[in-house]
Amino acid sequence: MEIKLKEPQKINFSKKAVLVLPFFPGEKISIKNKEIEKEINKFSETLTSLKENEVRLALSEKGKFIFFNTGEKEKWNQRKFILSLRKIVRFLKENNISQTVLFLEKIIPRGIDLNNLVRQIPENILLADYEFTLYKEKPKEGWPEIKLIEISWPNPQKYQKDFGCGKIIGQAVNFSRDLSNTPGGEMTPQRLAEVSFKTVKKLKNSKIEIFDERKLKKLGMGGITGVSRGSSQKPRLIILKYFGKDRDRKIDLAFIGKGVTFDTGGLHIKSSDAMIEMHMDMSGGATVIGAILAIAKIKLPLNIIGLIPAVENMPSGQAFRPGDLLKAYNGKIIEVISTDAEGRIILADALSYVAKNFRPKMMVDVATLTGAATVALGRWAIGLFTNLPKMENIFRQIGEDSGDYVWPLPLWEEYEEEIKGTFGDIANLGKTPKYGGAITAATFLKNFVEDLPWAHLDIAPTVTSIENQWLAKGASGTGVRYLVKLAQDFKKIEKSF
Ligand code: BES
Ligand code: MN
Ligand code: ZN
Repeated sequence: MEIKLKEPQKINFSKKAVLVLPFFPGEKISIKNKEIEKEINKFSETLTSLKENEVRLALSEKGKFIFFNTGEKEKWNQRKFILSLRKIVRFLKENNISQTVLFLEKIIPRGIDLNNLVRQIPENILLADYEFTLYKEKPKEGWPEIKLIEISWPNPQKYQKDFGCGKIIGQAVNFSRDLSNTPGGEMTPQRLAEVSFKTVKKLKNSKIEIFDERKLKKLGMGGITGVSRGSSQKPRLIILKYFGKDRDRKIDLAFIGKGVTFDTGGLHIKSSDAMIEMHMDMSGGATVIGAILAIAKIKLPLNIIGLIPAVENMPSGQAFRPGDLLKAYNGKIIEVISTDAEGRIILADALSYVAKNFRPKMMVDVATLTGAATVALGRWAIGLFTNLPKMENIFRQIGEDSGDYVWPLPLWEEYEEEIKGTFGDIANLGKTPKYGGAITAATFLKNFVEDLPWAHLDIAPTVTSIENQWLAKGASGTGVRYLVKLAQDFKKIEKSF
């Protein structure tokens, strides 16, 4: 698909292209072509009959038009703009429309950062266009394909850079969705390592290291090797490195992504319903790969590493057991209460490995960590935890600007009591496991980050799309946009630490 930003005066009104015309109810549609404008005005009855948020295709001799009612102008904002854009793209696909001009210049929400909005346009067009078809037979006539979207926008030359970034980021999110959507039997820890290897090899200024089970044992990563014991699939620790500046300079950011390629729950086996989407339990890892891919393509002047502990959590005669005492990389003994709280155990090794060996300016982990985060927040927000409480608002703003919305939850010292170990140093489940599960999980992780600035994103709430998000079913690629935006703004952000 080709997406272009074009000056309103330069729009080519050929009959091939369907014109997409969003409008504020009650306002007349005006465009820079009087003949077509006259034609559009013949549809005034259609326009008044359109409900808020409704998209409709209208045919005339002069061409095809798609109308979209934005709803009240006073309530129009960036979030609605993005969702409407996605809805329109889904509509184009459903109606097999392959070439369009999108008139967006009249519905620009007021008082927002236009560069940031423009970045989100190609990004969200690509997100809405995505479909996971790798495992489906191609229909004879091919998959519906949007070939060209031209966007009518004032002063396009001012926004080319943001527009280009948006394309790169949108593609990276979709790549991450492909990884997450791939079935668990295919996307094993080894396969995730191979895909990471291939991805990094294509990038400039990037390196990859992959630790196998022997190396992990030698390093003393008892969490990763412990959780993976029940599976015939051997664990890996994937380490990506991107150097946007001198290699001997300090690492700016470390991203750590949970890479459980399938989570059965282990011996604490999940119910059949709860196991259904657990091939996506490596989505945090996929987010990290996608984010580093985009950052390397945008060529941000930062040094960034990404770590993905990759395991499969299976029950078997070899599996780790409730009551096991696993020694993490930093020497702390993890007391296993539930084999289904496996994500925090593998992250403990990865976080403490980063804290000890890389000392980045900041660490961010991304994990489908707890169903409890979804209970707390519903399906629209990522759970945000940080040991920099005064940064909460800044981190929230990154969510708002990136489109990966986050919401803070507390990490107070009082919660530490919940996870005190009886026979080990720290338990992997709270004493009152029914309550505040997302918080006890985050509190557990906090014990492995030492004194480093750190944020934890619990992406369980947003890992798959829901109906009115206008995205294909399955993985949403959540968190990629957040990490990229964090990196883009990092120079500014680190001043506030
Ligand atoms: N991978 C799950 C969390 C999850 C659940 C992610 C649903 C996405 C959708 C995690 O490993 C897990 O099993 N968590 C348990 C924790 C419990 C045992 C404390 C949960 O949420 O039930
Ligand atoms: Mn689990
Ligand atoms: Zn899990």
